[in-house]
Amino acid sequence: MADAAAPKRFTRRTFLGWWLAGLMTATVVIGGAPLLLYLWPAAPKGQKKGPLAISLATPVSQLQDGQAIKFDAPTSPNSAFIMADGVGDNAAGDLAFGGFLVKNNGKLDCFAVNCSHLGCPIGLNETAKSFDCPCHGSRFHLNGQRFDGPAPGPLSHLTWKEGTDPNTILIDGIILGF
Ligand code: FES
Repeated sequence: MADAAAPKRFTRRTFLGWWLAGLMTATVVIGGAPLLLYLWPAAPKGQKKGPLAISLATPVSQLQDGQAIKFDAPTSPNSAFIMADGVGDNAAGDLAFGGFLVKNNGKLDCFAVNCSHLGCPIGLNETAKSFDCPCHGSRFHLNGQRFDGPAPGPLSHLTWKEGTDPNTILIDGIILGF
C-alpha cells in the first residue's frame, strides 16, 4: 500500500502536461491580444470625451427670440464638439469646431456650425433670421431646417445643457489633445 504522506514524483508526463498547458496559454495570449486591441482600442493618448464648458457673451436666460450666439470649441486644450445627429456631410459622432445657440419660438437649440451639404461653416443672417452657407448658398431656418440650396437636410444638433453660471453651457465634446 502506497504511503499517502510521501511526496508525489514529478514524472515526465507531469512535466509535458505543464509544458503543453504553458505553451497553449502563451499562444492564446499572444494570438488574442491583437484581436482584443482591435475590439476595444485604447483611447488615443490625451483624448477624453466629456462635456465642454462654453462661456457665452450673453446669459442664456437673456437670449431673445430670433437671436443666435456663435461659439467656438476650446483650443487650449484643443477640443471639438460631437454632433448628435446629421445628414449629408454631417453624421452623428462627427466633430464640429463651432456652433450656434439659438432661441426660436421660445425654444433653445444648439447646432453645429457645419453646413449639411459639404460642411462649410454657416453664418447667421441677422436680417433674414436664417443661417446661410457661403459656399453653395444653402440656407436654414433658425430651427435648423433647410429651405434653400443643395444641402440635403437640416443642421446637426449638439447635445447641451445649461452650466452652473448664467453664461455657461455644457456641450458634449471631446478633448483632442494638448
Ligand atoms: S457646403 Fe454649404 S451649401 Fe455647400
